Amino acid sequence: MRFDVLTIFPGFFSGFLENGILRRALVEGLVEVAVHDLRNFTHDRHRTVDDRPFGGGEGMVLKPQPIAEALASLGIEPKIVRPAATVESSALYQGMTSVMPTSALNEDWALAPAESRPTVILLSAQGRPFTQALARELASRNRVVLICGRYEGVDERINTLYCDMELSIGDYVLSGGELAAAVVIDATMRLLPGVLGNEASSEFESFGAADSDIATEVDGVPRSQHGAGGLLDYPHYTRPAEFAGLQVPAPLLNGDHQAIRRWRREQQLRKTLANRPDLLEQAKRFGALSQKDLEFIERLDTE
Ligand code: 6GU
Repeated sequence: MRFDVLTIFPGFFSGFLENGILRRALVEGLVEVAVHDLRNFTHDRHRTVDDRPFGGGEGMVLKPQPIAEALASLGIEPKIVRPAATVESSALYQGMTSVMPTSALNEDWALAPAESRPTVILLSAQGRPFTQALARELASRNRVVLICGRYEGVDERINTLYCDMELSIGDYVLSGGELAAAVVIDATMRLLPGVLGNEASSEFESFGAADSDIATEVDGVPRSQHGAGGLLDYPHYTRPAEFAGLQVPAPLLNGDHQAIRRWRREQQLRKTLANRPDLLEQAKRFGALSQKDLEFIERLDTE
């Protein structure tokens, strides 16, 4: 899988790419990340990437031209084309769908064929929320292009012409999309086959693939115990058994695997109720909680 990142701060990504799991995945050729400096696609003496907003207001807006040229250098043309403007290259757009963009565009515009294009993503606080489900979806794509906005914004025509989605990593404002791009790359690449040493480990943590396993009971054991079941992960402990006067919880020490599973499940319920009651409600609605789970929550509520 390949990521292309378009940014005015290419240096931001060096530390990120040189450490940990991502570094190993890059060395092993499991993932490729190319960072492109938008200033290389300017033509003026000052290498200008931004300009003042039409209509007035605070801050600067990223100009469309350097981004469009950077995308063109990657072989990416606008996804919507005016047929009149592409008569000579109409073969390129054979098989294009008749689906119209949702924005108020001229009816003559149409989408270029999706399979020939990478997935182009604009990172901005106005985007839809990036989730584990979306990370899973991106991990199935060959090529993802990430355009890092700055907080004042990117000329909207880039979004209209090139972007398949606009993503945000949470309800707070960052000064640029670079951190968000790093988040998307990290969450996505670790789902690629071979990236994690233990293939199973991404399946068993909070928001893991097993979250979508909704059946509650398999052989009398809640199936969601085989994954996070839409709940937050349980707490982890390693040696020593006592640290700073605190003992590792007893159920983890005595090798009774049934008791360990039950303890971990209860910790998941406890933590999810405390930190993410919204996820617990969702798990209830999906029927992902067993009778035992519900009784345990009942007892927590009265604590
Ligand atoms: Cl993707 N960009 C910016 N600038 N702020 C954000 C964000 C992205 N996601 C959350 N806040």
